[in-house]
Amino acid sequence: MVAKDYPIKTSKQEVARLRMQSDLFRVDAASMLDRIGVGLGWRCLDLCCGVGGITDLLSRRVGTEGTVTGADVDSAKLAVARDWAAANGLDNVRFEQTDAFATGFPETSFDLVHSRFALSVIPNGTEILDHMVTLVRPGGIVFVEEANVQTMECVPPDPVWDRALALMVDTFAKIGADVHLGPKLYGMFRAKGLTELRVRPCLHALRAGDPMMMHLPSTVEGMREAILSMDMLTAVELEHMVERLRKHLSKPDTVTISYSMVQVVGRVPEDGLPQSSVC
Ligand SMILES: C[S@@+](CC[C@H](N)C(=O)[O-])C[C@H]1O[C@@H](n2cnc3c(N)ncnc32)[C@H](O)[C@@H]1O
Repeated sequence: MVAKDYPIKTSKQEVARLRMQSDLFRVDAASMLDRIGVGLGWRCLDLCCGVGGITDLLSRRVGTEGTVTGADVDSAKLAVARDWAAANGLDNVRFEQTDAFATGFPETSFDLVHSRFALSVIPNGTEILDHMVTLVRPGGIVFVEEANVQTMECVPPDPVWDRALALMVDTFAKIGADVHLGPKLYGMFRAKGLTELRVRPCLHALRAGDPMMMHLPSTVEGMREAILSMDMLTAVELEHMVERLRKHLSKPDTVTISYSMVQVVGRVPEDGLPQSSVC
């Protein structure tokens, strides 16, 4: 089972792309978990966890008294996640196949609900936030980390970078996703009545040899089926674009700035959220 309309195909390359992305932003996620104060005994959910997401970081913090649930709709990715968790001794982590818009988990059953790089790439993904807040106990934490591609830059510039970036952004827009979502989450958290808000952008510079340097061509390749089905490019044009872009990104002088991962954290008030903000 895979997500309907989710535009990036599950494959070995996609598993590798998600691992690279996790590695790049690992320190950022870990440091926010420490600021939040995630500790022993917490019950945590990582929604749309893909091949593992941040379940390893949560697992170490909650210890044997705590629990971590990783949830995703894609059974193939969850199979990879389960093998990875077993290989890393993450005994307090379980993985569940479910739809992030309506998980079926009991309301108010988690101390922390997290999601990363999902609300911005899934059609109508912000509606997932409506569901997330219902899963958090009064006094608990909602933590979302989402992309903003506004920061992406390549120096020296090359038209193929600009074309590939526009293609990625347009393809996501056509399916109803918003890859500029990151900073907009702050207002959404406020509107929901979440308190003690934190917001923090995380950004990285990349150069030849860094695994994430090829993130843009890998993402565009992963979206091949969606791009071709929407007649955005022909297969040959796409192949040429990816080849030229990889060549430019392999040059020792080329440096790129990543998309930012904007972290937004809020607390559900002890007396619950205003009813008008809960869907
Ligand atoms: C870009 S990946 C991010 C994975 C993970 N959060 C991470 O940071 O490594 C987005 C994930 O959302 C999942 N997804 C898409 N639509 C979904 C839905 N409706 N319910 C649950 N998961 C979904 C995909 O299967 C994919 O694993």
